[in-house]
Amino acid sequence: MSSDFAQLAAAAADIEEYLTRHAHKGLLRFITCGSVDDGKSSLIGRLLHDSKMIFEDQLETLEDDSKRIGTRGGELDYALLVDGLAAEREQGITIDVAYRFFSTERRKFIVADTPGHEQYTRNMVTGASNADLAVILVDARKGVLTQTRRHSYLAALLGIRQVVLAVNKMDLVDYSEEVFTAIERDYRGFARQIDLTAITCIPVSAVAGDNVVARSGRCAWYRGPALLEHLENVTLADDAEGAPFRMPVQWVNRPNPEFRGFAGLIASGGVRRGDTVRVLPSGRRSSVARILVGDRDVEQAVAAQSVTLTLTEEIDVSRGDVLCAADAPPAVANQFEATIVWMHDEPLLQGRAYLLKIGTKTVTATVAPIKYRVNVNTLEHLAARKLDLNDIGVCGLELSSAIAFEPYKDSRVLGGFILIDRLTNNTVGAGLLHFALRRSQNVHWQALDVNKASRALLSHQKPCILWFTGLSGAGKSTIANLVEKQLHADGRQTYLLDGDNVRHGLNKDLGFTDQDRVENIRRVAEVARLMVDAGLIVLVSFISPFRSERRMARGLVAPGEFFEVFVDTPLAAAEARDVKGLYKKARRGELKNFTGIDSPYEAPEAPEIRLDTALLAPEAAATQVIAHLRGAGIIEAYSGQGDLNWEI
Ligand code: ADX
Repeated sequence: MSSDFAQLAAAAADIEEYLTRHAHKGLLRFITCGSVDDGKSSLIGRLLHDSKMIFEDQLETLEDDSKRIGTRGGELDYALLVDGLAAEREQGITIDVAYRFFSTERRKFIVADTPGHEQYTRNMVTGASNADLAVILVDARKGVLTQTRRHSYLAALLGIRQVVLAVNKMDLVDYSEEVFTAIERDYRGFARQIDLTAITCIPVSAVAGDNVVARSGRCAWYRGPALLEHLENVTLADDAEGAPFRMPVQWVNRPNPEFRGFAGLIASGGVRRGDTVRVLPSGRRSSVARILVGDRDVEQAVAAQSVTLTLTEEIDVSRGDVLCAADAPPAVANQFEATIVWMHDEPLLQGRAYLLKIGTKTVTATVAPIKYRVNVNTLEHLAARKLDLNDIGVCGLELSSAIAFEPYKDSRVLGGFILIDRLTNNTVGAGLLHFALRRSQNVHWQALDVNKASRALLSHQKPCILWFTGLSGAGKSTIANLVEKQLHADGRQTYLLDGDNVRHGLNKDLGFTDQDRVENIRRVAEVARLMVDAGLIVLVSFISPFRSERRMARGLVAPGEFFEVFVDTPLAAAEARDVKGLYKKARRGELKNFTGIDSPYEAPEAPEIRLDTALLAPEAAATQVIAHLRGAGIIEAYSGQGDLNWEI
């Protein structure tokens, strides 16, 4: 062998070794928290610049790279990252999180840089939701601040167990060991209370480069690692592969009648051909016929791979269902205790319904009750009936249908969710499931033999809700009363739920704040629903100022059973009438939160019936309502002979 050849061979072996090492390098996802003033940008800049990274760029390039390299590591990093982002983007929110990718000899890194401004909660939740570690910056001159505690609390909440406290600007405190030790002691004291234990405190100067990439001689007293050294070596728990198999179905792939595949990202565990799996929430079982990665058939697949599975039996599986190991399925429930992080300017109101997206499933969720709000500075629990921007609270959650879930601490995928406003489609909150409430497991639906259809038959009418909405003094109750009188004279069984009356009984504990009005309408809607079930024509006369709650009420009954009646009286006209003298009081400031004055009224956009009270006298308005009911087949089909055959 010539020496040239030997050299070449050695070089080839080196390259081979290098490539293998590179392909199998682990990945660390971390997040940086702190404000610009703390020197965050300089720290990241310094890290990227001095680490002699092999590769660094924004997300788009990461996509290319992971496809090109084609290692499992490459593929999944990208998939995980982009999946999370795509979900957010779909919801049309702007997230201010910059992801950077870099790599050293030992590890690959994805760093999510989240700005520290006012919307930091949203950004941090986005950035932290799949991070392994958080670097929390403090200014050595300022020490642990409220913001430091908030960031730490959120990190702990989101399941980040590894924290680096980077005490920056050490150059400005003369690399003082005393200063550093005092901050470290202070921080560890707080961290203990929130169960953060894996903490590494590092004295750094991002500007001077001390202890960022290499240890610095200027803090000779410091014996620990430099930041990058720590990031390269910190041990990470990877529980996902050891856990039982779970895969939320992202979409059902049915290109032709012969093929029906269920595509998704494996959240935990592994799956082999022939494994018995269960579909949740239905609980049906089947076996895995094929596993496809792209268009390649494989024998098995593991956590963090995107796959398509086909099953041996033709069973019902849809988007949002969870495929799981048949012998170790997650629980299924529809009521939970959860932590919610609120991210919207409009507060979260107890009793209001939101969309909840968990994994690939979307259901309706009502928040009730809010058990408490956390003061993240003092860790106190405070009573609350709403959550404001950046608030963190613990709440009860009631879902419209059961879901497969795991506590967030066991699975970020099956325990983490976002809340979406039903009208604007904006992401307004994020949350983590703690556990299912037992009340939901022990209260079942009772199947009753006498039902809505049989009751309706007996009473010769098609039950429905006539929902009158409008300003105070618009004429709702007057018109509703006339409509009821006519229906009654016609032999119909009716009931009129009137705001003023119900507020003397069932709802006498409620006032006129937004959250009380939400609860007012929630209760009345539930009562109206029961009355529809009892076979009645229910007239509801409440201001019901919010679209969201009127929509919720509509959703409680079947299509065609809800008639929104907008009693359209302009504020000036209602105020001029002022039958109860309340507008005058409100104008004098003696009555707070008065609708139309200092509390909003959201007019219906597409009511079934609009009554223009400027043009119609109450009698004529009532006639219009009755005519509409006739047109809709609610009261006309009755011939008195019991020959009803409405579909109910
Ligand atoms: S709602 O907004 O929660 O739907 P609801 O219809 O029950 O209101 O009650 C409205 C009635 O309460 C009004 O007709 C009026 O007589 C009385 N009222 C007392 N205070 C207020 C207030 N701040 N805003 C509106 N109505 C009030």
